[in-house]
Amino acid sequence: MIEERKGWFFISTRHSSYIMRISPTGHIEHIHYGGYIPSSAEGIGQIQGPDDIRLGDGTYYDEDHQHTFLSRMLQEYSVPGKGDTRESALIAEYRNGLITLDFIYHSHRIYSGKDYAILPQVSGDGADTLELTLRDTVLPVYLVLRYTSYEEEDVILRSAEIWNEMDDEVLLRTVSSMMLDLPDSEWDLMTFDGAWARERNEYRRPLAPGVVYVDSKLGFSSCEHNSLVFLLRPDADDSHGEAIAINQIYSGNHQERVEVSPFGLVRVIASINPFGFGWKLGKGESFRSPEAVLSYSCSGLDKLSASLHRFAERYIVRSQYGQMDRPIAINNWEATYFDFTEEKIMKLAATAASVGIELFVLDDGWFGRRTNDTRGLGDWTVNRSKLPEGLSGYADKIHSLGMKAGIWVEPEMVSMDSELYEKHPEWMIAIPGRRPSAGRHQYILDLSRADVIEYLFQSMSSVFSSGIDYVKWDANRNMSDYFTSSPDARFQGELFHRYIQGLYSLLDRLTSAFPDILFEFCSSGGNRYDLGALAFSPQGWVSDDTDAMERMRIQNGTLRGYPLSSMSNHVTASPNHQNLRRTGLEDRFGVACFGVLGYELDLNKLSDEELSVIKNQIAFYKAHRHTFQHGTFHHLPSSDGALFWAVESSDEMIILEYQERNGVNTGRHRRLRIPFADRDTVYSIERRGKHVFREDLGDLWKDYESVLHEPFSIRVSGAVLAEAGIALPPLFMGRGFEPATRVLMDNGADLYVVRKT
Ligand code: GLA
Repeated sequence: MIEERKGWFFISTRHSSYIMRISPTGHIEHIHYGGYIPSSAEGIGQIQGPDDIRLGDGTYYDEDHQHTFLSRMLQEYSVPGKGDTRESALIAEYRNGLITLDFIYHSHRIYSGKDYAILPQVSGDGADTLELTLRDTVLPVYLVLRYTSYEEEDVILRSAEIWNEMDDEVLLRTVSSMMLDLPDSEWDLMTFDGAWARERNEYRRPLAPGVVYVDSKLGFSSCEHNSLVFLLRPDADDSHGEAIAINQIYSGNHQERVEVSPFGLVRVIASINPFGFGWKLGKGESFRSPEAVLSYSCSGLDKLSASLHRFAERYIVRSQYGQMDRPIAINNWEATYFDFTEEKIMKLAATAASVGIELFVLDDGWFGRRTNDTRGLGDWTVNRSKLPEGLSGYADKIHSLGMKAGIWVEPEMVSMDSELYEKHPEWMIAIPGRRPSAGRHQYILDLSRADVIEYLFQSMSSVFSSGIDYVKWDANRNMSDYFTSSPDARFQGELFHRYIQGLYSLLDRLTSAFPDILFEFCSSGGNRYDLGALAFSPQGWVSDDTDAMERMRIQNGTLRGYPLSSMSNHVTASPNHQNLRRTGLEDRFGVACFGVLGYELDLNKLSDEELSVIKNQIAFYKAHRHTFQHGTFHHLPSSDGALFWAVESSDEMIILEYQERNGVNTGRHRRLRIPFADRDTVYSIERRGKHVFREDLGDLWKDYESVLHEPFSIRVSGAVLAEAGIALPPLFMGRGFEPATRVLMDNGADLYVVRKT
């Protein structure tokens, strides 16, 4: 709900309030973002108190307002020049380098839904919007701040628009989606950082005076620093305490700034990265920022993540996919790399179909001259020596196995060794007269150009209309040599953002033309894991690293802001192709099934025993697929060196127990505790029967084989589960096997199904 009362604005969601007011000087002053406060609550005016503090050397607003120091006012969208020397949400240059502006209240509008368009389009069904229009005190320059509130999800969607009515041109240098000022700095900052194959690892640090920048300059949202940031109270954890999430719906260069001012005030700004950015606004033109998602939880990080997950599935992901159960894939990349023939992939597909896999994904190497990664990108015509009957022949054969047919594309890229480059060298991002830098021997097409977009729309349309059901959209290098030769280019600083706008318009056209194709985004693994990508592709390739131990960290960080249904996870070969770690087949499965399960290994090299294990895994996953893909995710208390994850739907909960290392002679049982279990309910808990391979036990196999393996299946009250937890069956640790002994290796995973009885 959104209300205005005497110049105060109240945005309320189920558990949060966002309060602002028009200050005596006309500025929009931030009052509160946190737990819910009714707009009628007595004493609301006491939250900030009157302006009765003078600052020693501060700059006050003007002689009539000697107590108004913008540097200590909590604001909604700060600009430089009138005393606030903290980070600015907007820097707009005009008349040869002037940057001072001063926005004060002009008008506002509150309405149901969301009537403004920004790509990617986020649905506003059932939401309410507040639009605040501010005007510079002197110049006809306007700022529109938009707040769309989603009550059930505790989410506020924010964006800003700047609009120039001066005769002079304005050069935008910094434009932010949102700014949030908070009155104290007792917060920790959590960010999600990494590199290729170790994306989105979680980092937490206390705030201290100064500015922390979290950003990407890679042209894409990047695996180095995700645009998701959390502020959490020092005592907050997965299930307790206050936490705020901020994320941008943007796939390009982003920046999140977190400042602690000399007065201990916190300012968070989420923007397009000012690095290399500039945008010209002529008279009558306006610029809309990307949108940002803001969410608050008073009961810990899991609750915050659950709100973000629900919001993404309901409003960001295209509606038909939000709750859709996604197919189990087999991808040929790590099975064959470039070395495949149609015969080979059809054999792989046939085996996959026989174990219950539902989608075949033909990865890189099926087109043009693409026999290795030095060539062929840009030429989206089928290579007949690989697929003699073309793409439709491939799709028909896959369909005849009862599977869906998927294809890999990397449309944004070009190889110099390609027909496309020979015809259109000017379509590549490169600076005339400078040798361009390369990444994986490839270059980037200039998606700020309308002719490039048209070419890609046509060539992708022809690929997608060949009976294709699924597309993996990849992008395997970062931007360099920033230059556009577009005939429409007005200013080189516009390239980064125009590239992303071009990409979004292309994806918008393609997803509208092919609404039933399931898209998956990928970028050297997880280099483009952001809400903008998710708006077009409901799922993404989380990382090229599929090792269970690495994945526990990567999936954990990813799940902080992105839903289970967005995470495509594959069981791959052991030793792992990224780090050579050996992990049991059942353990690889246990971690991969938290999200959208797939396989990416040569099934034809597996034994019958292994194939029958995979068949059982798939049957288990299918029986619980909706829970794994769309359930509510929780961290449970860890115990005795193991992590516990849970995913909960209305009728069941699946629990993962994961250990990096097997202990020895620990002398105690590991415990499973579910703090939020319903105390008045009795639960059944069943351990998923796991297959133990003879090779894993070596000489000890005989002893293991001779014991009777008791299944673990119990009934227990929610009060016990919540308050004390239960002892899990003992692990093998050097003293032989008892009927209840479990085998859990290093990097080991066990699953439990919990139901209310
Ligand atoms: C990237 C992806 C991989 C695979 C290769 C193909 O590295 O992350 O999954 O598709 O490209 O070249």
